[in-house]
Amino acid sequence: MNHTLLNLGRFEEQLLIFGGPYGNLQATQAVLQESEKLGIPVSHVICNGDCVAYCAQPEETVDLIRSSGITVLMGNCEQSLADGRENCGCGFETGTSCSLLAEDWYPYCAEQLSIDAKRWMGSLPKGLFFDLEGRRFQIVHGGLSAINRFIFASMPTDEKLKEMALSDADVVIGGHAGLPFGEQLGERYWLNSGVIGMPANDGTQDGWYLLIIPEEGNVRCEWHRLSYNARAAQSAMHKLNRFNGYAETLLSGVWPSMDILPDKEFSQRGRAISPESITIPIVNRA
Ligand SMILES: [Fe+2]
Repeated sequence: MNHTLLNLGRFEEQLLIFGGPYGNLQATQAVLQESEKLGIPVSHVICNGDCVAYCAQPEETVDLIRSSGITVLMGNCEQSLADGRENCGCGFETGTSCSLLAEDWYPYCAEQLSIDAKRWMGSLPKGLFFDLEGRRFQIVHGGLSAINRFIFASMPTDEKLKEMALSDADVVIGGHAGLPFGEQLGERYWLNSGVIGMPANDGTQDGWYLLIIPEEGNVRCEWHRLSYNARAAQSAMHKLNRFNGYAETLLSGVWPSMDILPDKEFSQRGRAISPESITIPIVNRA
């Protein structure tokens, strides 16, 4: 298996970063169309993992992502499926509703996916670097200490700093936790790209993606809603007899389980979010 970190070198144009396709083929089609509409080439589009999970079409979603030519990182779902593990590796506590829901969707993914798709999952890198406007960026799936670490906006700053200390990048971008945010930590930044395959528990059907835009010497980080045909994604689940809580979430916009959420994010359930963009000043390194 290839667990090395990728170095994508230096970029000069904007990048589109997203996470969590989760087997949601319709959302995956939408984000690829969005990047095309924005004129962003596939060389500048990065998915930070969890291509499959809760939704109906794991194999089709993987096929589309592979054929698109975008860069993909290994998430805990890819890692578990490639290794033939018995569960998704999210770290859910036994008996919690997240864990019970996973007992439904994880075996479904394991059964639906081809050997070839699982091999591809096992070949994915666990992290990558790139440079933009003098700043070094690192993308990971969850955290730096663990692929399945949930890092939320409300996590205490000192804990985020400990995580950040494991990287030499100026900006770390994670996913996994499913809620988009950005925070300045001294002169460095922690960003979460958001995910496209499930709503952000905010009562809307939209997913989220992140644009990293070099602009007038700075780098602007902007989060955008991904509106897509959520009804079609739900129908695809129902057609395959997938009547689980996540099928309802696609339309209601609220999660079927909130075991993993800290109090602050828990209390924000059903309230539309709008992460503020962050401007990172340029650094000239001789
Ligand atoms: Fe994950």
